[in-house]
Amino acid sequence: MIQRRLIPAAVFAAAFATAPGASAATTYDDVAPIFAQRCIMCHSGDGAPLGLRLDTREGVMKGSQKGPVVKAGDRASELLRRVRGESQPRMPLVGDPLGQEEIARLEAWVTGGLAPGQSADKPAAPAALARPAAGQPVTWAHVAPVFLQRCAKCHSDNGIMGAPPEGYRLSSYETAISPADRVRIVPGNPGASEVVRRIRGLSQPRMPFDGPPWLPEEDIRLIEEWIRQGAASASGAPAPIPVGARVRFEGTLTGQWAVDGTPVAVDGGTRIDKGPRIGDRVEVRGSVGQDGRIRVERLRRR
Ligand code: HEC
Ligand code: HEC
Repeated sequence: MIQRRLIPAAVFAAAFATAPGASAATTYDDVAPIFAQRCIMCHSGDGAPLGLRLDTREGVMKGSQKGPVVKAGDRASELLRRVRGESQPRMPLVGDPLGQEEIARLEAWVTGGLAPGQSADKPAAPAALARPAAGQPVTWAHVAPVFLQRCAKCHSDNGIMGAPPEGYRLSSYETAISPADRVRIVPGNPGASEVVRRIRGLSQPRMPFDGPPWLPEEDIRLIEEWIRQGAASASGAPAPIPVGARVRFEGTLTGQWAVDGTPVAVDGGTRIDKGPRIGDRVEVRGSVGQDGRIRVERLRRR
């Protein structure tokens, strides 16, 4: 008889211990995977937005330039408000909002007292930050962290400027290479790609708009190389050449016909305004040809 009472009690105790309720202590180990998968592509390193680093528990506790983002026991902590969408822009800034279970786990960790775990001191490695090994093809996976950390804060639907500037989104591969209204990445032709021209300062205003600091030379070269090799997706598939897509940029005429050293196709159909000469600032309007070269429709001295 005694045994028959004991067994259900033991089963109950075991179930209680593993239930994800308030009684089961939520530690940093439970929330670190959320930060690693959805936050640290931006919130790590020197470029972390507002200085907020979410790759260690220490970083989370330290908060941002504005102050703490979590307070033990406080459901209204800024970090929770951001992931619930009560404080704007909602986090994570790109991709889908967190799922209900993930939000509940973060809430449980904060309200439960921000308990450390085993992984508290080990910085989570943002896998995507890996550089390609020498001779390896450059893909979106290599350049995406730069765009997400330094550009998507404005160039995304959720961004700090409201609508993305010029309607240009750098929050995903598809939007970055999209030729929908105008193409800013011409696969195989970095010199004609407005993205490269802006980060080099060949077109003004230079990007990132909130710089300096500008991108490190190493990152600019990586983006150039990515485009030169065909602006491949994360899986390595080259982007299609957007034949006929509109292009518009400004630069310095460096040859007949070249802009900042990039050859462009000028022919009898090109309208040339105000007699531009080598050394002049010019505005180029045209479209992408079969070979990825720019066919100039209008060349105007500025
Ligand atoms: C694509 C880049 C990006 C991703 C991914 C991202 N953030 Fe942010 N985060 C930002 C930017 C940019 C800001 C600054 C926005 C602003 O001006 O408020 C910010 C601000 C914040 C703030 C406000 C800090 C303060 O003191 O006001 C919190 C909290 C935050 N993020 C948490 C998160 C969390 C948690 C995740 C993951 C679930 C996440 N972020 C994912 C870019 C990102
Ligand atoms: C603080 C906000 C902000 C950030 C960060 C930012 N931009 Fe911009 N971006 C703008 C604004 C505003 C414009 C429009 C400026 C203009 O041309 O008058 C713009 C324009 C552009 C354009 C021109 C689009 C077109 O249709 O011609 C490109 C390309 C661009 N940005 C790329 C980038 C890249 C790449 C980064 C990151 C390295 C970046 N931007 C970071 C605000 C930002």
